[in-house]
Amino acid sequence: MRIIVVDNYEEMSKKAAMMIASQIMLKPDSILGLATGDTPLGMYKELILLYNKNEVDFKEVTTFNLDEYYGLNRENPQSYYSYMMANLFNSININMENINVPRGMAKDVKAVCSDYEDKIKQASGIDMQVLGIGGNGHIGFNEPDVNFEAETHLVNLNVQTIEANSRFFDSIEDVPVKAISMGIKTIMNSKKILLLANGIGKAEAIAKAINGKISPKVPASIIQLHNDVTIILDKEAASLL
Ligand code: PGA
Repeated sequence: MRIIVVDNYEEMSKKAAMMIASQIMLKPDSILGLATGDTPLGMYKELILLYNKNEVDFKEVTTFNLDEYYGLNRENPQSYYSYMMANLFNSININMENINVPRGMAKDVKAVCSDYEDKIKQASGIDMQVLGIGGNGHIGFNEPDVNFEAETHLVNLNVQTIEANSRFFDSIEDVPVKAISMGIKTIMNSKKILLLANGIGKAEAIAKAINGKISPKVPASIIQLHNDVTIILDKEAASLL
């Protein structure tokens, strides 16, 4: 596990974007696992800047997002599909056919989940998976639980996550209570993991994930068992290490 501590959010974002750009330079048809939320926004901005300077080319890249709210269609501005379009995909030369986000309006959720797993396998797995971390230690929408869920599945979001995410909605009642998320095995099967965290609100989750017991109560702790993890933290997120 490589832990890189930087001064601030901007530096974290730049370093993370450089890592993704290097990955694409080494393997132009890379399969990227992508995350949403506040944490990777700066990284996406940096990637767009690199793309505009012709320093990275997404023509052959395929992406799989970690999760999507259940019950929101793609066009809903709060969907993670819309987030990805607005914050990255609309501004780069990715082939729209190579973008994968779980379908939030699925009637047959089980089929959607197993199709998502199959598609990742057919792509021969994720080369680099970007992760944020919840204040409660979640990765993707794998919430603290008594078990690790292996594959893509329907999740009941916990109260802390609903409260944290309500900042993006008009009211807390509008926050979906379920989501479709890659599972722990899906994430752990990726060849490389790049986890980002900034701010004091993430310090405790980061300390538990890196130095604590490996437990489904802190889902991010599982990455201690992965053999190619890079964690980029600002000083605040690293303050309890
Ligand atoms: P955030 O969310 O980037 O908005 O803090 C991270 C997460 O919940 O995984």
